[in-house]
Amino acid sequence: MIVLRWVVCLLIFKVTVDIVKIYPGYLPPDFTTDFLRGRKSEFFGAYQWAFYPHLIAGPLSILWGMVLLNERIRQRFPRWHSRLGKLQVACILLVVAPSGFWMSLYAQAGLSVKIAFALLAIITGLSTWFGWRAAVRREFEKHRLWMCRSYVLLCSAILLRLIGGAFVIAGIEGEWTYRIAAWVSWLVPLGIFELTRKGFEKRKQISATQ
Ligand code: HEM
Repeated sequence: MIVLRWVVCLLIFKVTVDIVKIYPGYLPPDFTTDFLRGRKSEFFGAYQWAFYPHLIAGPLSILWGMVLLNERIRQRFPRWHSRLGKLQVACILLVVAPSGFWMSLYAQAGLSVKIAFALLAIITGLSTWFGWRAAVRREFEKHRLWMCRSYVLLCSAILLRLIGGAFVIAGIEGEWTYRIAAWVSWLVPLGIFELTRKGFEKRKQISATQ
């Protein structure tokens, strides 16, 4: 289990670094890059004000989330957990979710993609908000649950790139691949999280009554 955790963390870290490596193509905006192609007309409006903050806050929320979810770090440095946690909540609620929502309205691969990203932004924002409220009320079990959910949803950005890469390697192309990835990247991990969580809680209840 520990090995699997390390592998997942390393994978998340590597993909995050790969995401950031593309940034030189965004500053100044190069409209021949994959992502910015065909976006010149909307870019210099409100879009850029969502885009650049999103590019900074997105990777930070992934890295901070990894530190915050580490149980050992939390137990050894509870004050830092609390400080970094507040920063994370602000980063998601004030930047990642609202900018992601705004950008979702301009997603190019059709209405279903716009809806997928918009829903993702709303649910990520809500999970983070509930997690924060639970911490304020000192309901730490609920807090942990909502924050895990929030992180699973943030990691959709990682899975989206992995699914995209897998399609490319398999030689499968077309806008529909992006449509599938936009939904699968957060619905599947969220589904797995909810199912394994319920199983884990059931096992805990059974062993408590024995
Ligand atoms: C869970 C909340 C998030 C939502 C709702 C969201 C939403 C979006 C949307 C709608 C776009 C534009 C997609 C398009 O037009 O096809 C986008 C682009 C982008 N997002 Fe996010 N995002 C989220 C989290 C993240 C995270 C955690 C990262 C960092 C790892 C990230 C990094 C990026 C980058 C770098 C782009 C620019 C395109 C690219 O280089 O691939 N996002 N995001």
